[in-house]
Amino acid sequence: MSKRYTITAALPYTNGPIHIGHLAGVYVPADIYSRYLRLTGNDVAFICGSDEHGVPITIKAKKEGVTPQDIVDKYHAIIKTSFEDFGISFDNYSRTSAKIHHDTASEFFKTLYDKNEFVEEVSEQLYDEEANQFLADRFVIGTCPKCGFEEAYGDQCENCGTSHNATDLINPKSAITGNTPTLKETKHWFLPLNKHEEFLREWILKGHKKDWKPNVYGQVKSWIDDGLRPRAVTRDLDWGIPVPVEGGEGKVLYVWFDAPIGYISATKEWASRVGKNWEDYWKDEDTKLVHFIGKDNIVFHCIIFPSMLKAEGSYILPENVPANEFLNLEGNKLSTSKNWAVWLPEYLEDFPNQQDVLRYALTANAPETKDNDFTWKDFQARNNNELVAIFGNFINRVAVLTNKYYNGEIPQPGEFKAIDEETLAAVKAYPAVIASSIERYRFREGSQELMNLARLGNKYLADEEPWKTIKTDEERTKTVMFVALQIASALAVLSEPFLPFTSNKLKSILNHSELDSELTWEDISTKDVLLPAGHSIQSGKPELLFSKIEDETIQKQLDKLEASKKANEAANKKVEPQKEEITFDDFTKLDLRVGTILEAEKMPKTKKLLVLKVDTGIDTRTIVSGIAESFSPEDVIGKRVTVLVNLAPRKLRGVESQGMILMTEDESGNLVFVNPNIDGVSNGLKIS
Ligand code: 2FM
Ligand code: ZN
Repeated sequence: MSKRYTITAALPYTNGPIHIGHLAGVYVPADIYSRYLRLTGNDVAFICGSDEHGVPITIKAKKEGVTPQDIVDKYHAIIKTSFEDFGISFDNYSRTSAKIHHDTASEFFKTLYDKNEFVEEVSEQLYDEEANQFLADRFVIGTCPKCGFEEAYGDQCENCGTSHNATDLINPKSAITGNTPTLKETKHWFLPLNKHEEFLREWILKGHKKDWKPNVYGQVKSWIDDGLRPRAVTRDLDWGIPVPVEGGEGKVLYVWFDAPIGYISATKEWASRVGKNWEDYWKDEDTKLVHFIGKDNIVFHCIIFPSMLKAEGSYILPENVPANEFLNLEGNKLSTSKNWAVWLPEYLEDFPNQQDVLRYALTANAPETKDNDFTWKDFQARNNNELVAIFGNFINRVAVLTNKYYNGEIPQPGEFKAIDEETLAAVKAYPAVIASSIERYRFREGSQELMNLARLGNKYLADEEPWKTIKTDEERTKTVMFVALQIASALAVLSEPFLPFTSNKLKSILNHSELDSELTWEDISTKDVLLPAGHSIQSGKPELLFSKIEDETIQKQLDKLEASKKANEAANKKVEPQKEEITFDDFTKLDLRVGTILEAEKMPKTKKLLVLKVDTGIDTRTIVSGIAESFSPEDVIGKRVTVLVNLAPRKLRGVESQGMILMTEDESGNLVFVNPNIDGVSNGLKIS
């Protein structure tokens, strides 16, 4: 039965482009869900927009010496284009700097204010005397009171996800000056979450939310069980929506108060554009509201925003909040500041027109139940072994053979054998199977079922071998090609949520637009014939849906990441402060010589020590060196080294060490020899 859905995807902060983590965690799953619901005849409002307030934007603007407005204008355009490029089919992509949003958020605040839903309180807040400003949210960093993470922000710890007040931080430091903040009194409006605790308990814990993802339900339960406290919803900042009530001068709404209201204002903007009533999408109990987010946003969507909606009184509450875990990249956390990311604009430059490959790789490996790792090797394998070898190969064979044998015209089938009947029946089962995965927010499972349908087609062709029967049994070949074309047609429709660009190309190859009516999701399981005999597919050589990605292409991406890593390490390298001053005489006491390691062996029963025989030019002596974790004996034999020869001998594990070999560390922290790599320099030469 057709239903009405309001589907929201987290509004991205507008302080940088979008990367694969955003796409995998929020936007691709939300898009698959929305496309599927539209295809199955539902009334869908798929809503998103730029989150243009908040401290991250002010910080970025300060860093670049421009205004916050410049920052949001720049990144709003970049992000919006990325979403379009990757086929994220929002009905509206708005922005929180839009007038309609300022009006909607102000009105929402005023309604709660008039209903006495806030607690107005003068309290002491963190203040940076030097910067002359209050320190809210990301302007302050300190130790998380819950998990001990040392870089928690003023409003949230990104490590454990807890949301707290800035004054809860242990050892707070200003992110602007690095100073320890003082406390200064200021007035704010607080949303008394404690007042909504009972409602939240009923709604989430005792309600029907057991079908929420365990990570979401578990986090929410633990927060409620810990006890909820009032949260300030205003800030002493100058970038944001002005507090619209008396006494609010110079203050703005907390970004997490205004941002979720952005879903409502974006819906209003869309509804007025397309002539719909926005309230149907937010106030009608029959509408299903679903929020797609990353796990760091759970508290805001499951506790704070529902409390706001409940306090306002006229809104529906979310039916589900399918939050994903995080995606890592090649074993490390994605990080904007460390440039450890695959940015969407850059991906498209390197892989033009290959949006579906990324969509597929991210979905097949989506961080649905635990954090997952994106690797370029997996990306290559998903493309080469699945999209090219299975999906693309099947379609290409079907299209090429249809053109070759029948001039592109679907042949009249003969009598069906059991294998044909079974195959056609199996195809009919796929819409329900894939739908069930999507409706349970198991998009990875859904993507694998789609690939199974392509596998079915591939296997059918491999078993029935029309390229052989064409020489012996023309009637049989017609039947086989007819069945294969039905599978191809089913793939064109069922792939749309996952691979929208491919689906379009495939529909063109099969000339779906020439059919009497557009094929729907339901048609795949109800119609006996999808492409009728006599229908013509596109003539000529079919466009390849996917192409092989070579090792070199993948290596280039790995090299790019390696370069980021190196640049980071260099930037983060802490140079130790200079030691106490020494006299020239002190220096001349050191006798440093060029030497060569002649022999090396591990010191028995130790992990770190190598026993070396070193030619110092003066003699050959034993030196015990703590380098065994970095070098094996074979690595070091023959190495030219710098030796401190007049160090008083000392015994290490019973072996007398008669000197020291000079070492340092490279950018990655690996030990390296201070190597007098000069041709023609003999052992024993003094270094001074
Ligand atoms: O975490 C973020 O990127 C936030 N900008 C998400 C906001 S979601 C919403 F409520 F608007
Ligand atoms: Zn924490």
